[in-house]
This record gives sequence, structure tokens and C-alpha cells, in this order.
Amino acid sequence: MKRRKTFAVLVSLLLVVALFGTVLTGCSSKTANNNGGSAQKTESKPILIGGVAPVTGPAATYGKSTKQGYEMALEEWNAKGGVLGRKVKLVFEDDKADPTEAANAFSKLINDNHVVAIVGSVTSSCSLAGAPIAQRAGVPMITPTSTNPKVTQVGDYIFRACFIDPFQGTVAAKFVFNNLKARKAGVIYDIGQDYNTGLAEFFKKEFESLGGKIVAYEGYPDGTTDFNTQLTKIIDAKPDVIYSPNYYNDDGLIAKQARTLGFTGPIVGGDGWDSPDLFKIGGDAVNNCYFTNHFSKDSKDPKVQAFVKKYTEKYGEAPDALAALGYDAMNIMLTAIQNAGSTDGAKIKDALKNIDYQGVTGHIKFDKDRNPVKSAVIIKIENGKQTYVTTINP
Ligand code: PHE
Repeated sequence: MKRRKTFAVLVSLLLVVALFGTVLTGCSSKTANNNGGSAQKTESKPILIGGVAPVTGPAATYGKSTKQGYEMALEEWNAKGGVLGRKVKLVFEDDKADPTEAANAFSKLINDNHVVAIVGSVTSSCSLAGAPIAQRAGVPMITPTSTNPKVTQVGDYIFRACFIDPFQGTVAAKFVFNNLKARKAGVIYDIGQDYNTGLAEFFKKEFESLGGKIVAYEGYPDGTTDFNTQLTKIIDAKPDVIYSPNYYNDDGLIAKQARTLGFTGPIVGGDGWDSPDLFKIGGDAVNNCYFTNHFSKDSKDPKVQAFVKKYTEKYGEAPDALAALGYDAMNIMLTAIQNAGSTDGAKIKDALKNIDYQGVTGHIKFDKDRNPVKSAVIIKIENGKQTYVTTINP
């Protein structure tokens, strides 16, 4: 009799705890996601993912491609039933490739939209402006494309889907020294961008250690359109190649102006050259030039070919590296949320650390600094078209 009573008390106690628990979890996930509406079950509301990229401004083609990559990945997950049984929704912000705009975008996504994770941004200076905000808020972030090493050094919530510039600069220097047989190089770079200054430095270091000579090393302020002063100094020093690790608008103009000044050798660049606008700006001046990149649509890998086909059908143009990295980065983040079994920031961060993902830009597993170790491709521009030259493994 006594036992029965104790049992009944226990059962009712348990019921109270369970009820209370539901109310509590209901509340907490509502504050965490705050997707609006209160009568609905939390589970049926979409999971909000922040996306940042420059769709206007001086890096607009990067943003357009990246955003299309984000969207395509998201749509594929939703077509398969979403993540954790819920739909996923992109809340997108344009940072115009401006670090102040990027900081505002990250704050808005986190504080106003209450996104559970952020995919972005694209340029290294913008990711460096956003990363401390994500880190402080405990919101996991993955940049698809920012290659400057400092980005992931911001903290343990910050990841990237691309290789880093010490590798990219080394690949370029080796290619220039060994394949192009250059012994003298001139470098021209934007001093106002973390990506450009970093890549110029990493190239210089490796080229010199191979025995090459940097005959001129010329910086220019952000926003420059007339490069004659820097190019004259460089060309006077008689380099075999010019290394231009900048964004496409600058690279196109630099190539054009270098040709006008009489330079006929190859101009070599980094992933920043990957834009349909490069040839529009540079025209014939960028033919027979080379750049390092993350991805080539000409890869024979069946996974890449399927992606290229589907993307081209959807958007009416072939994917560039930014589209491919945007697609991989979004897939990695959604896979991590699925693996975490939760939209809790700390749990997603832990799941990201353990990711093992076969993407269209290669195999992605993070090292202890949250950078993937991946190969690079060399692209040559011929008749205004990108042609694949070779793949270089780390
Ligand atoms: N790597 C560049 C940066 O860090 C961004 C970029 C990636 C541009 C890929 C073009 C292609 O700023």
C-alpha cells in the first residue's frame, strides 16, 4: 500500500518535471532561433542560416557566384527534407566587399535575425571584420573563400572551406620558377587588403627561397585605377614575370596598362583573378597569363561534372571557384548541424571540427587551426577562356 502511494507520487512528480521541461525547452529554442510566431511548434519553423557575400561593389561577381552556390546547396537539402527535419532558410546580406558593411551584416544576422550559423564572407578583409563578432556571440562561421591565414586565427568558432595563402603563394612561386623558368619577378599589390598584402608576401618569400630575385615590390592604395607609377618602376627593373595577387578589376587594369608600357611577359595572379569580368576589363592583355585557383570546371571527377551540369542548367552559366566553394561551405555547415543533432552553436562548432566531407572543391577535413588541407589548380587564360593546366597537391 505504502509502495503504491510512493509510486503514484513519483509518477506525478515526473509528469510535472516533464511538463516543465517542455515549456523550458520550448522557450529556450524560441529565444535561440526567434523565427517569429509563437503558437506553432518550434520544430516546424525553418532553421535560419546567415549568408554574407559582396553582390554589389568592386567584387560583385564574387558575391553573385558565391550566393548562387549557397542557394543551390540549401535547395538540395530542403528537397531532401531539410536539416534535423526542418526546412533551412538563407538570410542573406550584401557586404559590398567593405569591412564596415561586413561587420554590420554579421551583427544584424546575429542580433536581429538570430541565425544559428553564418556562411561568409568572401574577401579576407570582410571575413576578418565579421569573425570576431561571430566568435564573441558563439555563432559558428565558415568562410567559403577567404584565404588569408589570420581569418581562422580569430577563434575556435571560425572555419574555412578553402586553402590558405601561404600554400597558394608557394604554389605560384614554384610554378613561376620551375615551369615558367622565371628568375626575376616584379610584384604589384593593394596595400589596403589583407588578402593582397598576404599573398604578395608569401609569394616573395618562396620565390626568394627558390633562388629567384624580386626586382620590384610595389604597393598601391585601395581604389587605385592608374597603376602607371608602380608599373613603370617594375618594368624598368626588367622582370621575367609580374605577380599581381589582387582582385579582378585591378588585375584587368594592371594587365592592360602593363602591356601599354611594353611588358610582354606573363602576368601571374591568385584566386582573385577568377571572374567573368577579368577578360571584359583586361581583354587581350590577360591572354597567356596564369593564376592559382581552387577549382576547375574541366575536372574529370564525376561529382564535379554532375555539379557543373546541374549548376549550369540552373543559372545559365558554368560555376566558377566561388560558386563551388559557396556550395561546399553551405553543405559543410548544414552537414555539421545535422551531425550535431542540434542548432546549439557550441555543438555545431564541435561537429564542424570532426567534419569529413567530399566536396566539389576537394576533400575537406579541418586541421587544428580549422583550415582544410586541399590542392590548388593552375589556370591559363587563352583566347579569353580559362584552361586547366595542372593540379598541385599540398
Ligand atoms: N581569396 C580571396 C580573399 O581571401 C577571395 C577570393 C576567393 C576571390 C576565390 C576569388 C576567388 O580575399
